[in-house]
Amino acid sequence: MQNNVRPADMKRINIPELAEAFIAEQVKEVREQVGDRKVLLALSGGVDSSVVAALLIKAIGKQLVCVHVNHGLMRKGESEQVIEVFRNQLDANLIYVDATDRFLDLLAGVDEPERKRKIIGGEFIKVFDEEARKLEGIDFLAQGTIYPDILESDGVKAHHNVGGLPEDMQFELVEPVRLLFKDEVRVVGKALGLPVSMVERQPFPGPGLGVRCLGAITRDRLAALRESDAILREEFAKAGLAEQVWQFFTVVPDMRATGVRDGKRAYDWPVIIRAVNTVDAMTATVPEIAWSVLMTITDRILKEVPSVCRVLYDLTPKPVGTIEWE
Ligand code: XMP
Repeated sequence: MQNNVRPADMKRINIPELAEAFIAEQVKEVREQVGDRKVLLALSGGVDSSVVAALLIKAIGKQLVCVHVNHGLMRKGESEQVIEVFRNQLDANLIYVDATDRFLDLLAGVDEPERKRKIIGGEFIKVFDEEARKLEGIDFLAQGTIYPDILESDGVKAHHNVGGLPEDMQFELVEPVRLLFKDEVRVVGKALGLPVSMVERQPFPGPGLGVRCLGAITRDRLAALRESDAILREEFAKAGLAEQVWQFFTVVPDMRATGVRDGKRAYDWPVIIRAVNTVDAMTATVPEIAWSVLMTITDRILKEVPSVCRVLYDLTPKPVGTIEWE
């Protein structure tokens, strides 16, 4: 039975030396728990699952089987980074499933936000389950459960995230970062050699770009969303804002606006920039971004993203507006 209570005298892991000691201890524990058996992990590329993957690769190498499901709603370059880091650099046993068409076909015409979330979450479990059943001799399931998950939701990882355990699958759990807070997980991730862009990632909802491509998702708007989001992230990073702003992304509504392009009238999509600062995501403020940065982003989106004719900056604090648009 694993211990799910953080000991009162447990040191905060805030320096590399403490992270090294934690890693050594977990490697030993995982080896004792798992022996020569196999462990399965759903690797989304988020901070928690990536750190667990790196830790388990160190402990048990190829006995860990990672499954990365690309639901087609990832940000630009994210699935590619998972493959590059885990398969190419860390030599992980990684199964990559491109399920884009499955998800987008199921979501076609669905415009109600909670239904979209349910479909994405449900399909994710189905795809993961199908992959797991193809594998033989798996006894353990690793999860990136962290301490706030235990405190807030009875130990169920990311209650509002996609993923989770297929219900009839009886695996023993391996949860090596379950007693850590998020900032500690990041320190451990860095000590394990994961790229900073992976361990310092801003929060990204489980349903991914699915809740930022408003209304019924279409492939053209999803492409505009992915490209504009990549431009925003690039320009925020260049301006030194990536570390200062808690969460930032673009949104593409399901409503057209008029414009003129090459002397002709266009009827294209708007892109909304959303940027917020917050401590706990319950309330949020909107940072004042330099006009020059906003103009550079606007120019680039209008030049580089086809079918976008307008760029807006959302000034709404939470409350009243939530951080996401759906
Ligand atoms: P809201 O929009 O409620 O967002 O102000 C608060 C934080 O939660 C994230 N968020 C989600 N995360 N699945 C997730 O894993 C979801 O369905 C979801 N909806 C919102 C949001 O990005 C913000 O950080």
